Amino acid sequence: MPETVARVLYFSCLSVLHLYETLGWWRRSDWLKVHFAESWNELHHLLIMEDLDGANFWGDRLLARAAALLYYWIVIAMYVFSPGAAYRFMELVEVHAYASYDKFLKSDEARLKFLPAPAIAKQYYRDGDLYMFDEFQTSHKSAERRPQIDNLYDVFVAVRDDEMEPVKTMAACQQTQAATMVLSPHSQPLA
Ligand SMILES: [Fe+2]
Repeated sequence: MPETVARVLYFSCLSVLHLYETLGWWRRSDWLKVHFAESWNELHHLLIMEDLDGANFWGDRLLARAAALLYYWIVIAMYVFSPGAAYRFMELVEVHAYASYDKFLKSDEARLKFLPAPAIAKQYYRDGDLYMFDEFQTSHKSAERRPQIDNLYDVFVAVRDDEMEPVKTMAACQQTQAATMVLSPHSQPLA
């Protein structure tokens, strides 16, 4: 359920930013790219958990979707009235996600190291087109972070470390100079 809800928070930001761009109130195309890449990253966490049979029970799926719908509108309201409060909330959610995965890695390390990595994880982190993987990591240069994916432990290390990247981005989004601080890692200064 957490991964179903996690990406919806970015859908809320994207919805409001798209509305503001439609109304001509501001234009921060880099933020649209970065927030979409963050939602794409959370989508892959969800696909990995589904591959591990984490969504087999219909009741879990129903509860996750209901929570996601509720959080979508809550974050939209927060973002409209106080973008800083919305980013602070999302920062806390991601800090909690990091701590949860870290605890799981410590308690299940031996077991996870004997289990294979799902194909979707190898594709997303290692073998596929890594443009979208690089795009949400605003504190890194493009192509700087390349997780090793040999077993399920490596996958959960990568997922845990992913959760810390938006924490840095959400913190930067709350700063007064956020417009110039938060840029796509692929943005190149115009010549
Ligand atoms: Fe996640």
